[in-house]
Amino acid sequence: MKNNLVIAIDGYSSCGKSTLAKALAKKLGFIYVDSGAMYRAVTLYFLRNNINISNDEQVADALKHIELNFHSRDYESHITLNGEEVSDEIRLMHVSENVSEVSAHKIVRHEMVKQQQRMGKSKNIVMDGRDIGTTVFPEAPLKFFMTADPKIRAERRFKELEHKGNNSTTLEEVFENLAHRDYADTTRKESPLVRADDAIILDNTDLTQDEQLAFALERVEPLLNF
Ligand code: DC
Repeated sequence: MKNNLVIAIDGYSSCGKSTLAKALAKKLGFIYVDSGAMYRAVTLYFLRNNINISNDEQVADALKHIELNFHSRDYESHITLNGEEVSDEIRLMHVSENVSEVSAHKIVRHEMVKQQQRMGKSKNIVMDGRDIGTTVFPEAPLKFFMTADPKIRAERRFKELEHKGNNSTTLEEVFENLAHRDYADTTRKESPLVRADDAIILDNTDLTQDEQLAFALERVEPLLNF
């Protein structure tokens, strides 16, 4: 088997991409890369440092001061921003509310894509996001495009926030935020969320996590014999 096999998982917000990606990575012994966490960490930095997103020079300069690293513990991906663990903070609403704008920025995308492509050069990875199969790794041999009923997605994300002890956000707010991000992700100019022609659609509205993993593994198997 080659040692730079990339499995790309794209799709709408909160439709279980990271859950499937993690499970696949664990099963296959691949590295899991959560590309959304990178955009979230950049957003957090911009918020903390009052970076003016409409000032390209400021954005470019800020990016030079951001170092992102992933640390994998039990296949849970942890991200550090300039050495600080920010995995929980980047999931909070104030980051979710600003990440669309930041991730639509050309300079930000250019830098993130460069870093993501580097990660796939010499390792077997499962990467999830919005443009992995179209822009980051258009040659990936296996691509999934995930979707699910928006209400189910909002409920899942709401429960996740509750589980993390965040009780200040309502289900309606989560639903609105997802709808806003779906719209922003699919209509932005820079690599919008779109299904790659060769991506396999996986609608998991009525599927358990085990069923999704089985569906994906069936498609991975033929690649492992090379
Ligand atoms: O997957 P997520 O919800 O954590 O991603 C956060 C935001 O980052 C999402 O609203 C869209 C953006 N994103 C992106 O534009 N491209 C990616 N490859 C991954 C995420």
